Amino acid sequence: MIILIGGEKGGTGKTTIATNLAAMRALAGRDVLLIDTDPQGSANYWAQSRDELNIMPRVACVQKFGKGLQAEVKDLAKRYQDIIIDAGGRDSVELRSAMVVANKAYIPIQPSQFDIWTLNQMETLVTTAKGFNTDLEAWVVISRSSTNPSVHESDDTIEILNDFSSLKLASTGIKDRIAYRKAASGGLGVSELKPKDPKATEEMEALYQEVFTNE
Ligand SMILES: Nc1ncnc2c1ncn2[C@@H]1O[C@H](COP(=O)(O)OP(=O)(O)OP(=O)(O)O)[C@@H](O)[C@H]1O
Ligand SMILES: [Mg+2]
Repeated sequence: MIILIGGEKGGTGKTTIATNLAAMRALAGRDVLLIDTDPQGSANYWAQSRDELNIMPRVACVQKFGKGLQAEVKDLAKRYQDIIIDAGGRDSVELRSAMVVANKAYIPIQPSQFDIWTLNQMETLVTTAKGFNTDLEAWVVISRSSTNPSVHESDDTIEILNDFSSLKLASTGIKDRIAYRKAASGGLGVSELKPKDPKATEEMEALYQEVFTNE
């Protein structure tokens, strides 16, 4: 299965979600490859830290850029059970190429960065990609939302998504929690963090189930 975590906005938690899903998939015994298509190389840096710190299981990661991505992903998909692509925060050739080969795309959006223009852009990208990749399904993941129960920033996003035909709303949202930053800096997924943050672990587990169940 080829999963894309992508979107045009920066800092929405794409790399955080991609690395967490990759770590959980590896922990489940799957042969998973993380593909970092962002020149910033954060996902690759995370996997390197993991290697340097000898954290098991290992998560294989490669950096791939440019137009050849589509063919390379197709080729790599023959060798790995799962591929998770982290596509950088801009409308890049990598993001477009990845959409053409992915089975599922997840687009993290921060409630504070949310605007109709962004969703329109993503809807257009996904609809175009579906012209080549008819089975593609795409979900918006509300990411980095406030843990404060009185903050309802996401409500507008949820309502507006009803008007889009190519984008659905993921059932799981990811909240802004310090555990994600701690885990990232140690080459870990939140479920591997000690001591555990039960809420972060639970929500990432829920997202994992959502992504990988009913393959
Ligand atoms: N759910 C979260 N809770 C707390 N911090 C988070 C969360 N998600 C991401 N962060 C932090 O926010 C910053 C940006 O996150 P991340 O790198 O995952 O975003 P990105 O969408 O990949 O960004 P870019 O567009 O630059 O690639 C990082 O410092 C990360 O640790
Ligand atoms: Mg990133």
